[in-house]
Amino acid sequence: MRLQGKAAIVVGAGQSPGDTIGNGRATAILFAREGASLLLVDRDAASAAETRDMIVSEGGKAEVFQADITSEDDVQRIPAACLDAFGRIDILQNNVGIGTGDQSAAQVTRENWDRIFDTNLTGMMLTCQAIIPAMREQESGSIINISSVASIASTPMAAYKTSKAGVNALTQHLAMANAAYGVRVNAILPGLMDTPMAIGGFAARRGTEQEQVRSERNARVPLRKQMGTGWDTAYASLFLASEEAQFITGVLLPVDGGQSIRVG
Ligand SMILES: NC(=O)c1ccc[n+]([C@@H]2O[C@H](COP(=O)([O-])OP(=O)(O)OC[C@H]3O[C@@H](n4cnc5c(N)ncnc54)[C@H](O)[C@@H]3O)[C@@H](O)[C@H]2O)c1
Repeated sequence: MRLQGKAAIVVGAGQSPGDTIGNGRATAILFAREGASLLLVDRDAASAAETRDMIVSEGGKAEVFQADITSEDDVQRIPAACLDAFGRIDILQNNVGIGTGDQSAAQVTRENWDRIFDTNLTGMMLTCQAIIPAMREQESGSIINISSVASIASTPMAAYKTSKAGVNALTQHLAMANAAYGVRVNAILPGLMDTPMAIGGFAARRGTEQEQVRSERNARVPLRKQMGTGWDTAYASLFLASEEAQFITGVLLPVDGGQSIRVG
């Protein structure tokens, strides 16, 4: 019960449809198992409700709040929803991230560039901006931003890479700006994960079978030639959310089976 008595918000707590578990859903379930009460934020309320049902069926506590993080009005309502439900806000995991429509800088359309930036970077900035005042008031809080190894590795996806690099910089900025208030801000950089968004998304884009995408991605991972899962992101998030990480802020933590240290 490492999060006993804490209230946590997971933004992007639903997931893309598929058989495996997404990063946000796994994190929400694990946080609840460790004693936290969860506000499950997603633009897809039905998917967040599936996460809630999983948590409640295990005896945990969770509520759904529908919000699109590209809408300032929606985001402004998130802190009140958590304070009304649980009386405090201790943890925020920013899990939303998209890459659909992305291409190289030579090819990507302005529309897709803007949509990806609005979601991956500006939306995350807005949720932090909305929720940090409550954490400052409590003089404690832990924010975990989900970036990507793509932010520091080569990838053909220009907007995804650049927006996630912005997430890293935003994390470091927020860590410094809020350190005096006892609010910690860290980022996780997942590598190749076996989540529905990644596998289903790439298979659809390339017109190939999901199993083909899976085996190609597995082969690229140094550690055991095996992708990570949503649970790997969840366990790293649990550590950063817990008091065990009370002296850790501004860290960009790869959770990638060694992918980011392979050079050459
Ligand atoms: N899966 C991977 O291999 C991988 C690798 C590196 C980083 N990541 C990052 O992990 C995070 C989650 O990935 P996942 O595979 O679990 O994705 P996912 O698509 O399963 O989950 C993301 C959730 O965010 C929600 N969402 C999307 N846009 C939203 C918006 N504007 N407002 C509110 N909710 C919105 C979706 O409805 C979905 O439920 C993303 O930030 C992604 O970039 C994933």
